[in-house]
Amino acid sequence: MAFLKNVWYCAGFSHELDDAKLLGRKLVGEHVLIYRTESGEAVAMSNVCPHRFAPLSEGHRYGDNVSCPYHGLEFNAEGQCVRNPNGDKGTLTDLKAPRVARLKSYPLEELWGILFIWMGKPEKADTSLIPDFSMTEERPGHRTVFGFHKLDAHYELAVDNLMDRTHVQFLHPRLNLGTDFRDDFERRYSTEQIGDEIWDYHCELNAPRMPLTAILWPEAPELMEYYFDVRWNAPGHMLLDAGSVAANTDRKIGSHTPGANMVTPIDEHSCYYFWNNCRDSNLDSAEADKGLQHGITDTFANEDGRMVAMCQEMMDGETDLLSMKPLLLPSDEAAVRARRVIARKLREEAEEEAREAADNGALEAAE
Ligand code: FES
Ligand SMILES: [Fe+2]
Repeated sequence: MAFLKNVWYCAGFSHELDDAKLLGRKLVGEHVLIYRTESGEAVAMSNVCPHRFAPLSEGHRYGDNVSCPYHGLEFNAEGQCVRNPNGDKGTLTDLKAPRVARLKSYPLEELWGILFIWMGKPEKADTSLIPDFSMTEERPGHRTVFGFHKLDAHYELAVDNLMDRTHVQFLHPRLNLGTDFRDDFERRYSTEQIGDEIWDYHCELNAPRMPLTAILWPEAPELMEYYFDVRWNAPGHMLLDAGSVAANTDRKIGSHTPGANMVTPIDEHSCYYFWNNCRDSNLDSAEADKGLQHGITDTFANEDGRMVAMCQEMMDGETDLLSMKPLLLPSDEAAVRARRVIARKLREEAEEEAREAADNGALEAAE
């Protein structure tokens, strides 16, 4: 499977670990167990018991240890097997295997209520590489809602979808009051690449008020400006800096709703889409919470997710879109640039691995 390894991926949200939960999730082709220790640290390790491959996330917690649901081998928070209940008086002394059995563990970081996991070599994990999503964190004057979905498509198709605003008026007609007013207002697009970071700017000027806007900002005027500025970082991290503001007010008056859109491969043919949305208006409104939660969930489950999965199906198993020579439109620029950055990073990672393997081989030969 050609996925970047030495990068951070979103693994979920902090609140998913509440109530001592054992969270099992397949990420980037690997089965991962995530939980919070009694001291509050979130840890990640393989979710596969080395005995008969049972999912440890179905097991039981004993303090910071997790026991396998099948035959009870017990592992500590570092992934080390520390107990075999079927051995001599429940100790490990009679069996060699459990004594050395150690699950693969993964660097895990928790920032702004988001869990980030490093799937590559632990010694290369650098927290300064985690893209900044601080503007989406719940804090005084801001309210954040969360969600996630599983999509039946290669993760890069989901990234394409999230970097593309031009589908909104066709795929999400409810956002347009059910009308097709494609030429009624002005749109502006531009794309910028700064190193390996890509920005896609999209703005709709003098546009009519949408139903959700009235929920987020009841005083919203009839004439609006909607902006959707997307910052992409490899492999699937997108900050959606968005807002619904009064037209011609320099984006100062209105409702600002930045969100983190994070796509993590499950395998070649499916991925998770994790999202949050942080608003600075109508904070105590349960209707606004519900409108966003339900609106985003429903839109992605029934519109984006469904469409992306159908496109994947029409590609007959192919996962590399560019190899199929698709028609490229000017509005695809940001997504195509993202794909090129990913392809280059994959090549660099493969070359680095080959170099390291050659160095290790030379070392062994010298010993
Ligand atoms: S499968 Fe886990 S102890 Fe047997
Ligand atoms: Fe969409």
